[in-house]
Amino acid sequence: MTSPTYDVERVRADFPILGRQVNGRNLVYLDSASSSQAPRQVLDALHRHHRGHHANVGRASHTLAAQAGAAYEAARAKVAAFVGARTEELVFTRNATEAINLVAHAFVPRDSRPPGDPRFRLGPGDEVVVTEMEHHSNLVPWQLLCRRTGATLRWIPLNGDGHLDLSCLETVVNARTRLVSWVHVSNILGTVNPTREIVDRARSVGALTLLDGAQSVPHRPVDVGALDVDFLAFTGHKMCGPTGIGALWGRGELLNAVPPLLAGGGMVAAVELTESTFLPVPARFEAGTPPIVQAIGLGAAVDYLGAVGMAAVRRHERDLTAYALGVLDGVKGLRILGPGNPADRGGVISFVLDGFEPAQVGRYLDLHGIQVRVGRHCAAPVCRRYGLSGTVRVSVHLYNTRAEIDFLAAVLLGMGSRR
Ligand code: ALA
Repeated sequence: MTSPTYDVERVRADFPILGRQVNGRNLVYLDSASSSQAPRQVLDALHRHHRGHHANVGRASHTLAAQAGAAYEAARAKVAAFVGARTEELVFTRNATEAINLVAHAFVPRDSRPPGDPRFRLGPGDEVVVTEMEHHSNLVPWQLLCRRTGATLRWIPLNGDGHLDLSCLETVVNARTRLVSWVHVSNILGTVNPTREIVDRARSVGALTLLDGAQSVPHRPVDVGALDVDFLAFTGHKMCGPTGIGALWGRGELLNAVPPLLAGGGMVAAVELTESTFLPVPARFEAGTPPIVQAIGLGAAVDYLGAVGMAAVRRHERDLTAYALGVLDGVKGLRILGPGNPADRGGVISFVLDGFEPAQVGRYLDLHGIQVRVGRHCAAPVCRRYGLSGTVRVSVHLYNTRAEIDFLAAVLLGMGSRR
């Protein structure tokens, strides 16, 4: 049962878009794993900033610049606190993809000059480990890194029910491993992956760890201290914030050992014609005018989520996912991917419906106002692993209801009866 203290109708009232219609039907938004909706508290914060305080940050000393700068840094402090991080270790990026790429570019070929920090040198014989359930953002950057350095990419395989096969953890993560980067919650299978076991193994062989939190930070309490990883990547637009803003958290001593990726204004301490010195993290990684209003919007989003309470959000989504698994199980010919136990899942349910291509299902649902994603979900290797060309994916957030799941199931039943 949904917790009696969680008032989903009150939450919904904060999201103006949920009142609209699509194709003449009430909107049923079930695509939050792709991008979530924003509450009026976030929309108002964006508007307030543009109307009252907008100026560039970290440059001028006039009043508006000071107000904008203070708001931007306050947003950083809020977002850092949201994941239990120190403010000065939180770098704003465009999204989780950019955060992961930033870490991938920290690594240089072993024979580079100047040599750089030994923890970020890679070469033939070294290995980078991911999992078979990564979305492309946590796979392709590592493929390119391995191509650039001669290192080898390895992965922890999936088993039949959508869990990682950890029986081979000790073989895959070994003395040659330099980094393990894995997804906290799968965007296609919904699987919640273990962290302690993988961190312990990585650390025992001296490898760095990166957790892709794109699908976990928006939906459950996440604390970098408890996770004990070295880096965490996440993005704002899946957590009720605007697009164009994400974050990389990293241990300060690691981030400060890495040269900048992008260079320009805002990240330099002293500049001569032939050389420059760089500011410490986070400014070192925020060259150029940053996404100021987007960061402020993300600050408002974490205020909002924090006020609802992430434990309550997690409970609501787990209950709704359990409910959806039960209801969808009643749709003839519908096969759900991923773990059967809702406790092992985030709020993502991918399925196939016998006799229909995922794209047909998506179009049919859309005609009824139901917004889902269909296809490979930027996780092509997962589809290949299960012999599928794609799936239909339903993903919930704090504003979804059982009534919406009932309507989804009724429409799918209606579609199935047309076979
Ligand atoms: N990674 C996003 C998704 O799963 C875009 O839809």
